[in-house]
Amino acid sequence: MPPILVTGTAGFIGFYVAKSLLDKGRAVVGLDNFNDYYAPELKHARTAILEDYSDFVSIACDIADRDAVQRVFREYKPLIVCHLAAQAGVRYSLRNPHAYQKSNLEGFVNLIEEARLLPVERFVYASSSSVYGGNTKMPYSETDPVETPVSLYAATKRSNELIAYTYNHLWRLKTVGLRFFTVYGPWGRPDMAYWSFLENILHNVPIKIFNYGKNRRDFTYIDDIVTGVGAALFSDGLDTWEIINLGNNRPVELMEFVSTLERLAGKEAIKEMVPPQPGDVVATYADIDRARRKLGFEPRTTLREGLERFVGWYLDHPALAEAVRNFRLSQR
Ligand SMILES: NC(=O)c1ccc[n+]([C@@H]2O[C@H](COP(=O)([O-])OP(=O)(O)OC[C@H]3O[C@@H](n4cnc5c(N)ncnc54)[C@H](O)[C@@H]3O)[C@@H](O)[C@H]2O)c1
Repeated sequence: MPPILVTGTAGFIGFYVAKSLLDKGRAVVGLDNFNDYYAPELKHARTAILEDYSDFVSIACDIADRDAVQRVFREYKPLIVCHLAAQAGVRYSLRNPHAYQKSNLEGFVNLIEEARLLPVERFVYASSSSVYGGNTKMPYSETDPVETPVSLYAATKRSNELIAYTYNHLWRLKTVGLRFFTVYGPWGRPDMAYWSFLENILHNVPIKIFNYGKNRRDFTYIDDIVTGVGAALFSDGLDTWEIINLGNNRPVELMEFVSTLERLAGKEAIKEMVPPQPGDVVATYADIDRARRKLGFEPRTTLREGLERFVGWYLDHPALAEAVRNFRLSQR
């Protein structure tokens, strides 16, 4: 059976998706450029776990390099692509727009073009709740207007959805765009609040509570996301062009999230209440009816359970946590 091509396997979600496919006996070709947006040590540690599987091939490759992407498709001829590599992060896109242009626009076109040339049977890719921009109607539904992204990151993710539509229209390429809502868990992302807040609480460093703690996020646990991605890769009955929310359907105020972390860390945070940041959205809240109907998706992990597993993992990996913190400090 041809391998599944997963991009971004050194990243948080790509690592888990690849691991779950390998656990089910599928061969996986993983692609990543191991960039230093956050500590590369963490990316290498995730990849080392995947490399224990004989059916896993790790390829260091920049998806913005068209020839390199072409070589991967020619050599491995995947029938299914799960495209998760991207320059993530909303705030970073204010200072580093070209990283988003390269990875999220050029890289995306390189991937989808090779996918349609082969052709692959299905092209599943990561979009984001950020495409809903400043929408105030809650919960966010796939049928809501998404013409007003409020960050370049969001604009590139919305562009991906439009490009996928065009490839489906022109070439009948079957595409599934998944709008992820704030994914968290063990082996997670150091640039996200759950990680940096825990790190700062444990090191007595003040944490900045944006928008005075009034922002609400639909925190979605990684295992639930992986189940949803798996369904998107293999479910029958999907239309040939799909956009589907994958969220928890239970938004939580930032202050509740912080107090849960404080309880689990056994320590109070030093809090600095600050105004909203440019590019931030006040709330994310997923309508998951479509995911339920088409993917049988049902998030099962409460924020308390998920954060408990994250904090447990973090405390069990002191060397990695320290490497991530030292990398962060070296970038200031
Ligand atoms: N984690 C979330 O809450 C969340 C929410 C919405 C959308 N997403 C999207 O889900 C996907 C996975 O996110 P994640 O949280 O695992 O992020 P991540 O940063 O941990 O993983 C992305 C991986 O892609 C790789 N990558 C970036 N640019 C590349 C390039 N040009 N060539 C090759 N590899 C490259 C990075 O090295 C990284 O390992 C991304 O597309 C992201 O935008 C994530």
